[in-house]
Amino acid sequence: MTTAIQFPTQIGTPLAANAVKVMLLGSGELGKEVIIAFQRLGVEVIAVDRYPNAPGHQVAHRFHVIDMTNANALKALIAQERPHIVVPEIEAIATPALKELEAEGVVRVVPTANAAWLTMNREGIRRLAAEELNLSCSHYAFADDFETLKRAVEKGIDGKKPVGYPCIIKPVMSSSGKGQSKVDDASQLEAAWDYAGSAGRVNSGRVIAESLIEFEYEITLLTVRARNPKSGAIETSYCEPVGHIQVSGDYVESWQPQAMRAKALDEARKMADLVTTALGGTGLFGVEMFVKGDQVWFSEVSPRPHDTGMVTMITQWQNEFELHARAILGLPVDTSLKTSGASAVIYGGVDKVGIAFEGVADALAEPGTDVRLFGKPESFVKRRMGVALARDADVEKARAKAKRVAAKVKPVG
Ligand SMILES: Nc1ncnc2c1ncn2[C@@H]1O[C@H](COP(=O)(O)OP(=O)(O)O)[C@@H](O)[C@H]1O
Ligand SMILES: [Mg+2]
Repeated sequence: MTTAIQFPTQIGTPLAANAVKVMLLGSGELGKEVIIAFQRLGVEVIAVDRYPNAPGHQVAHRFHVIDMTNANALKALIAQERPHIVVPEIEAIATPALKELEAEGVVRVVPTANAAWLTMNREGIRRLAAEELNLSCSHYAFADDFETLKRAVEKGIDGKKPVGYPCIIKPVMSSSGKGQSKVDDASQLEAAWDYAGSAGRVNSGRVIAESLIEFEYEITLLTVRARNPKSGAIETSYCEPVGHIQVSGDYVESWQPQAMRAKALDEARKMADLVTTALGGTGLFGVEMFVKGDQVWFSEVSPRPHDTGMVTMITQWQNEFELHARAILGLPVDTSLKTSGASAVIYGGVDKVGIAFEGVADALAEPGTDVRLFGKPESFVKRRMGVALARDADVEKARAKAKRVAAKVKPVG
């Protein structure tokens, strides 16, 4: 497929008139690594977040603090900075404003403004995947009030079969498991409805009910849409599957590669190709899927690097952030694995501004390990403050090693 995407034909000098300028919307730990990847390629980077000294702010050429859900604030900043490319790093952005600016040709949005808009709401991406692309998904229904939710779960609405119990209730706009709960029977449904309403990112009150998939394991298939420099065509390539464990909907450890039966891997790649092609543009996507034997269910997709993909900082020749930066700039990509490995999250453990970490030297004394400390100015007990990385030819050994390293890095108040 040829494309109208305008890739830079040259990379200028940062801070000079000919600089290629990229604006990151969201500058957390994932954005920080994307910024570092751009910096290494000589790109000028402007980091934006809702609070000062966010991880990505600390490594960019300039930074700004705005409410990115405010369309006027977002448009004003883009008009001031005039970036060539806008890279959303989070979901909570005024994406309709990005659609307008993209349509007017003011900026290029990665991968596309439509992709950022569709994936910020579970309804947009689920309807695309299940109803337009016919990907296999959990049974689902949307509801704006408790009565409709109850009917959808127990009897079925819109001519669809009931979602049934057990099921999972989630706000349509939320991430990292926020507001999400599992419901085993009718007695728990109202509490799940209330919980979703209290935690949605934008308190729309709308929820999705999904039947629980009894999967053997879940994966993130990091999928890259990048330009083939010889043909000019946009091609899809895949990293080795990343296996992961989520607790209360939040990632705690991941590893790569996740062993898969050939048929399931083939199916997963086909599904990832369909959904990323529909979203379009270039860049890296994290396609989340559930697997049991040969069966694969699509769950959701991030049109950007994925938290579980931080493992690629130790396992791949080009990690997911470098792949994203290269694909965005129209450069060739290499998704191959260097070694098998694992990651484990390091939590804050305390609620405090300006914490310190002890035990880093001891943790890293174990060969084949590494850490990233994100530099977040404020710690919360369950806030992700860093990640431990480990490599080992044996994935299980790598997982154990990553967890040992994470346990040794001690946040202190
Ligand atoms: N329908 C489902 N069946 C089984 N597990 C699920 C289902 N939906 C979510 N989960 C579990 O919860 C995690 C988070 O859900 P997800 O939809 O990915 O939310 P988020 O956008 O917050 O990451 C998943 O990775 C999976 O472990
Ligand atoms: Mg998810």
